[in-house]
Amino acid sequence: MSDQPDQQAKKPFLYIVVCAAGVAGDVGKLITAAQEANWDVGVITTPQGLGFIDTEAVEAQTGYPIRSAWRSPGDPRPLPPADAIAVAPATFNTVNKWAAGISDTLALGILCEAYGMGIPTAVLPYVNSAQAAHPAYRQSLERLREMGVLIGSYEPHRPKAGGGADRYRWEEALELLTPKVSERP
Ligand SMILES: Cc1cc2nc3c(=O)[nH]c(=O)nc-3n(C[C@H](O)[C@H](O)[C@H](O)COP(=O)(O)O)c2cc1C
Repeated sequence: MSDQPDQQAKKPFLYIVVCAAGVAGDVGKLITAAQEANWDVGVITTPQGLGFIDTEAVEAQTGYPIRSAWRSPGDPRPLPPADAIAVAPATFNTVNKWAAGISDTLALGILCEAYGMGIPTAVLPYVNSAQAAHPAYRQSLERLREMGVLIGSYEPHRPKAGGGADRYRWEEALELLTPKVSERP
């Protein structure tokens, strides 16, 4: 039956993929913004990214375990399937590996498959201008753009200058994804 009340009430599920960048500790801002906009949220971190966040606080806020490694065969899936994915913050490393099709972390595995599954995905890189100057980075962003990935507008900060956390717009992920999710069949 299509008119079951719990199906009607089901919220879209957002995966937030967190990489090992200085601003990662503020991911609670995106979780709060997403929940206020009626998303349910699960967090996946890269293995390095796990050390950058307050895991207890994030799990308490989302109500789901943080995933950073593959489950064992036969274990239940800890998160529902994603309706959309926000990669925030995205590192130089993960952006380049994702664009190249490398899948050696759970986070990259999810991202590499998301393209083929048609899951709307936004990436908010947080890199410095020295990293951004590397030719591979520009090519990676170009490839991701061609894949339909929505790319945030953060302008790289100067290296060794403390970063630009104050102008990193976490909520841009929702601004990019919301129209894509509402237009899906
Ligand atoms: C304190 C600290 C801050 C970092 N900040 C950034 C950053 O803002 N952007 C970035 O691309 N890499 C940053 N790095 C380097 C990444 O952590 C490193 O490239 C790592 O391999 C990324 O792994 P991941 O992409 O699997 O998360 C930082 C490293 C440290 C120790």
